[in-house]
Parts: sequence; structure tokens; C-alpha cells
Amino acid sequence: MQNRLRVKWLLATVAVICVMSGIYYADLLRSAFLRNPIPRSVESIARGRQLFSRNCAVCHGAEGRGDGVAAAALPRRPDDLSKIAPPPVFPDGVVAYRIINGVKTMPAFKSTLSASEIWDLLNFIRSLAPAK
Ligand code: HEC
Repeated sequence: MQNRLRVKWLLATVAVICVMSGIYYADLLRSAFLRNPIPRSVESIARGRQLFSRNCAVCHGAEGRGDGVAAAALPRRPDDLSKIAPPPVFPDGVVAYRIINGVKTMPAFKSTLSASEIWDLLNFIRSLAPAK
């Protein structure tokens, strides 16, 4: 009897935690299902590269290796963007969400960049990954 009650409490607690983190991370969860609407064309990658060198390279370095001029001054060096795991591990929507909302020391770009610019950046970042 005691044990059954304990299991019930445990299940109830787990359920509450799941619901609460579901609400807290709802935007992130939703973004996991977003698809990049802009095809990974040469033009889009070129636009992304230009946006990247203007907005991101100070920290991330021109090729996204985490060796930008400001990187040394950051509390945490940015990771090598050519190594961002491809979907399904990190879907495009989740990477876009990080750029839009920022990550810890990285600023949010939602007021600076348009949606299509974010997707061009995504195409550029994906193009950095070594071809398989
Ligand atoms: C002020 C420096 C800075 C700028 C500018 C910056 N970033 Fe970052 N970025 C970081 C840091 C630092 C991290 C690592 C975050 C952490 O874990 O603390 C990061 C992480 C990331 C990540 C990985 C997120 C993840 O899920 O791990 C992506 C993608 C990214 N940046 C893209 C961009 C893009 C695209 C731009 C330009 C629009 C940009 N960043 C501009 C510092 C910067």
C-alpha cells in the first residue's frame, strides 16, 4: 500500500514537471518543427555569408570556427558552427530559435534580422558542415 502511494506521488510529480517544462519550452518545442522555407541555393548561402560577416563574425570568426576577434574577451568561446549537429539532433528551427532569442552571452537578433535573413544565415551555417 505504502509503495503504491509513493509511485502515484512520483508519477504525479513527473507529470507536473513535464507539463511545466512543456509550457516553459513551448516556443523552443514548436520551433523544432519549423522548416527552413528558403532552399539552400548558392544565392541564399551568399546572402547568409554576407549577413554573417556583418553580424556574427566578430565573435564566431569568418568561417564560424569560434575564432572571431571578440571571442577571446567572451566568458565562453563560441563553439565551432561547422560542427552543429544536423537534423534531427538540431533541427533548423532550433538553431534559428537560438539566433532569434540569443544564447547566454550571445545577443538576440530578433529585432535586427528579418525571418528571411535568419533562414539565409541558417543556409550559410549548414553549408559550413563538412560534406558527407
Ligand atoms: C557577442 C558575440 C556573439 C555574436 C555577435 C554572435 N554570437 Fe552566436 N554565440 C556566441 C556565443 C558565446 C555562443 C555560445 C553560447 C553559450 O553557450 O554561451 C554562441 C552560440 C551560437 C550558436 C549555437 C547555439 C547552440 O544552440 O549551441 C549559433 C547557431 C550562433 N551562435 C549563431 C550566431 C549567428 C548566426 C550570429 C549572427 C547573426 C551570432 N551567433 C552572433 C556569441 C556571439
